[in-house]
Amino acid sequence: MSGILDGKRILVTGVLMESSIAFHTAKMAQEQGAEVILTAFPRPTLTERIAKKLPKPAKVIELDVTNTEHLDRLEGLVRAELGSLDGVVHSIGFAPQDALGGNFLNTPFESVATAMHVSAFSLKSLTMACRPLMASGGSVVGLTFDAQFAWPQYDWMGPAKAALEATSRYLARDLGPENIRCNLISAGPIRSMAAKSIPGFADLAGVWDERSPLKWDMNDPEPTGRGVVALLSDWFPMTTGEIIHVDGGLHAIGA
Ligand SMILES: NC(=O)c1ccc[n+]([C@@H]2O[C@H](COP(=O)([O-])OP(=O)(O)OC[C@H]3O[C@@H](n4cnc5c(N)ncnc54)[C@H](O)[C@@H]3O)[C@@H](O)[C@H]2O)c1
Repeated sequence: MSGILDGKRILVTGVLMESSIAFHTAKMAQEQGAEVILTAFPRPTLTERIAKKLPKPAKVIELDVTNTEHLDRLEGLVRAELGSLDGVVHSIGFAPQDALGGNFLNTPFESVATAMHVSAFSLKSLTMACRPLMASGGSVVGLTFDAQFAWPQYDWMGPAKAALEATSRYLARDLGPENIRCNLISAGPIRSMAAKSIPGFADLAGVWDERSPLKWDMNDPEPTGRGVVALLSDWFPMTTGEIIHVDGGLHAIGA
């Protein structure tokens, strides 16, 4: 059976639990014919355990996106395993507790800086680390939570996502001439580890129960993973700097 990622080599970050958007992305990418390599944070053993639940084996490389040694050695480790890459998935986000959950006005800059470093600047660092592996072009895909709006509880992750969205546009600008595309999926709420770390996340998710045109299931990361796989494929060849909503259509509804 042929798949939309047949013959493609894809690096997927962010597989932590079975609830991770990245896990469902990796699973679907393999089902669609891709060879997948995973990166792991904080410990490869955790990701290796979850990787066993994928349809096919996937090698795991340790990567803290804020660690320059990890970033510097990534190219060599991936090259030894796969030779080159056709796509990179950035599925990484983190903000310290005092940057979330209604503390927006009191968050110290150190915590904001951490959120920005891990959640936004890392799209640039990861893409640059993988750039030499995409000599014949590629597709970089990240995950955002619509940064056009101020959301309850989301606090400094909001500005971090706004920075991620802008970073993606600048990467699209600078890497387009190398045929490297950079796009984001703007996902609705999903009950993952990252979501559980946001105090009051249920209030935020309740907005989807009330207003989403399509019935949104917070326990199902698959539609989001499908969106990522579509952007990794050859079916968006002239799309870059774009943000595609996989949110049940909520972004289109005013009230
Ligand atoms: N869950 C949601 O409601 C939702 C909605 C929209 C967008 N997103 C985004 O989707 C992406 C994936 O999140 P998820 O919901 O699957 O949660 P998750 O907790 O499963 O994934 C977050 C990942 O970030 C990784 N990470 C954190 N710090 C890191 C670091 N220093 N270096 C490398 N990796 C690091 C973690 O290991 C984890 O795998 C994030 O960008 C998140 O903001 C999530």
